[in-house]
Amino acid sequence: MSNILNIDNHYIHEPTGQWGGTDLNNPDMINPWREIQKIVNPKKTIEIGMWAGNASLVMMTLFENLESLVSYDPGRVSEQNAKQIKKYWPRHTYYKEPIWNNEYRHTDIDLIFVDGKHIGDAPSKDLASCFKIKPRYIVMDNIEQPEVRLAARNKYKLFDVKYEPLYWSYSNTKYSSDRKYNMCSPGIMGLFKMEGNY
Ligand SMILES: C[S@@+](CC[C@H](N)C(=O)[O-])C[C@H]1O[C@@H](n2cnc3c(N)ncnc32)[C@H](O)[C@@H]1O
Repeated sequence: MSNILNIDNHYIHEPTGQWGGTDLNNPDMINPWREIQKIVNPKKTIEIGMWAGNASLVMMTLFENLESLVSYDPGRVSEQNAKQIKKYWPRHTYYKEPIWNNEYRHTDIDLIFVDGKHIGDAPSKDLASCFKIKPRYIVMDNIEQPEVRLAARNKYKLFDVKYEPLYWSYSNTKYSSDRKYNMCSPGIMGLFKMEGNY
């Protein structure tokens, strides 16, 4: 357990080379969440795309008044880790499925973190779910990726000044089992103020 927030993550299993999750030792990926706590102070939060659960642990550590975090991810790694996480963090709930058609489960949501599949129509479907749930804020990762940007900027017009966008950029270094080399990839995360704008 050696990471910026001293999070005890000994029970987390994170296969190398697959999805790029939040790096607990990268200040540029951790510090935005401190700002989000100050701006949003979320009580009820949803995460779309959990992977190993690193961002789940960051949110549960930094959100001072958090009542519930619900993560959606159809992957097996998330399923395994969510079982462990639940033992230490009872406020965490996990569903092994997309959020699509499950929006009815949620009311009075403060924040949805959109970080699921970044290709095809998935980003757009995730935002469609967000617009049904109507959270106070949306934070969306990897808006530098083409299909995420198409959904956020073109279809849902989240870059409109009325949403008071805030952006954070980071470099994420990890081995890519797809590309077979050590990658340092750029990432951009955006926060959008939705309340008052539906
Ligand atoms: C970038 S990772 C999430 C990283 C995590 N939020 C973090 O910051 O540590 C993307 C995840 O989205 C999941 N995923 C793929 N399709 C999805 C869907 N339709 N709904 C939710 N998650 C999905 C993948 O299984 C993968 O674990």
